[in-house]
Amino acid sequence: MAEHDCGLSARMASFPALQQHRRDWQHELRTLFRDSERSNRFSVSARDCGITLDFSKNHLDDETLQLLVGCAREARLTDAVQDLLRGERVNNTEDRPALHTALRFQGKPQTAEEHAVAACREQMAAFVERVRSGAWTGFSGKAITDVVNIGIGGSDLGPRMVTEALLPREPQPVRVHFVANIDGADLADLQWQLDPETTLFIVASKSFSTLETRENALSARAWTLAGGCPENALHKHFVASTSNIPAAVEFGIAEQNIFPLWDWVGGRYSLWSAIGLPIAMACGYEVFEQLLAGAQRMDVHFASAPLEQNLPALLALITFWYAQCWGAQSQVMLPYAQRLEKLPAWLQQLDMESLGKHVTRNGKSVDYVTGVVIWGSAGTNGQHSFHQLLHQGKLLVPADFVAVRKPMSTLTRQHNWLLANCFSQSRALMEGRSAGAIEAELLAKGMAAAEAAELAQHKAVPGNRPSNTILLDELTPATLGALLALYEHKVFALGTLLGINPFDQWGVELGKLLGEEIFTAASSGELPAGWDASTRSMVEACLPPETE
Ligand code: F6P
Repeated sequence: MAEHDCGLSARMASFPALQQHRRDWQHELRTLFRDSERSNRFSVSARDCGITLDFSKNHLDDETLQLLVGCAREARLTDAVQDLLRGERVNNTEDRPALHTALRFQGKPQTAEEHAVAACREQMAAFVERVRSGAWTGFSGKAITDVVNIGIGGSDLGPRMVTEALLPREPQPVRVHFVANIDGADLADLQWQLDPETTLFIVASKSFSTLETRENALSARAWTLAGGCPENALHKHFVASTSNIPAAVEFGIAEQNIFPLWDWVGGRYSLWSAIGLPIAMACGYEVFEQLLAGAQRMDVHFASAPLEQNLPALLALITFWYAQCWGAQSQVMLPYAQRLEKLPAWLQQLDMESLGKHVTRNGKSVDYVTGVVIWGSAGTNGQHSFHQLLHQGKLLVPADFVAVRKPMSTLTRQHNWLLANCFSQSRALMEGRSAGAIEAELLAKGMAAAEAAELAQHKAVPGNRPSNTILLDELTPATLGALLALYEHKVFALGTLLGINPFDQWGVELGKLLGEEIFTAASSGELPAGWDASTRSMVEACLPPETE
């Protein structure tokens, strides 16, 4: 058992005042907007990043902000940011730094890490150029037409999401695909569209030991050989991004085809490294560089803006406020941009794998909520699905709307509809509609009094539900880089406020161990006596011993 910690009040002297402020809070969001300056006062722009945060539709005022910033000061957030950027061993349970910011350094390399990153970027640029220009050929001498990224978690979600967001509108020399799932259907459903002669696989795995990636890579290898590729030409079809170079070599990947990663890069923070190869391959290497440059601008903002105007810190403090003082257990991410459809899935790993912890940095159990459930989908689709719960359900679910000012297609009328919907949703959540107003309307239309009174109850929307709106000037590699870095830093700031280590993920290991145990036992047909009856009967029903 972990030694018990008494909770936030004991850890943070400024927290009880915040709790008291919550108990005293009487305002309705719509009445707060009687202050015509509210939107200006509670909006902050990071101009260099092309991002504005409007956080005025939240349950907060100047005093709330002051109290929250007090908590951040007490948690020594500003010092923690400097420690992060300086490469201190902030990942204390794995005794290493978390230097994803070094992956996006700009200018001349200064540190050992930056020199290594610069060399890797050169290697990536040259490789991407060779493949995209057709100079890199497959075993039969034909140019590569399709690149398949095999990876999972951080080795999949970030590159997949960014590629989808930034893929140029004009035809590209190669198509890029993603395979993640251990379910063979993921790979098989793609392979029938591909030709082994012209397909290149990127095996993306920091550890090079992840089950899904290993199995998919083995199947891809067998498929390439079956397609006529001689063993000694496999190097033309397989490259790897990994920090485990010996394992990649043992798999049969030529050393010159390995793009390095380092132990100071966390999996969910790795899209800025060689794990981002599919982005560069799909969109062109220069797009990848612009993405890095945008993210680095957000790093500068995070390191230098005062807490009251610091976008990542503000997002973290608002989540802290709702989770610790309002009982919120979830947060919804609503990108109003089809190209950002995968943003919620990416954020889910970033946030939940980082903050889903039950002990403090020094191993004491906590009695407060740490990570909350992150979910969501692209707007407007969610409006026709789960928004009903946001508007009339009984859960408090703070929302992050992400909108892009400039149209992302030539269909500008549809873009205007998109934004009108985005802004109307946050407004509806905030203002709601009273039963009284609806009843009056129904009566005016001639409905009988009793019927109108009852129906009005169903139609009433309580409102008073909070949201942030994050506005991008336009969707470019640079603004996207800044947006993703914004959320990375938000998560770091929250980890600091909560006193937990956001850079490990020990919780996922138990499931992996048990998976191996079940697979091995089922294959041999000898199921251990100690298994629970439920697991045993499912294994017996579905995994006969001859299963490979
Ligand atoms: O199991 C979780 C995890 O370790 C993630 O943190 C990581 O992004 C993913 O698996 C993939 O890991 P790798 O890149 O080492 O294959």
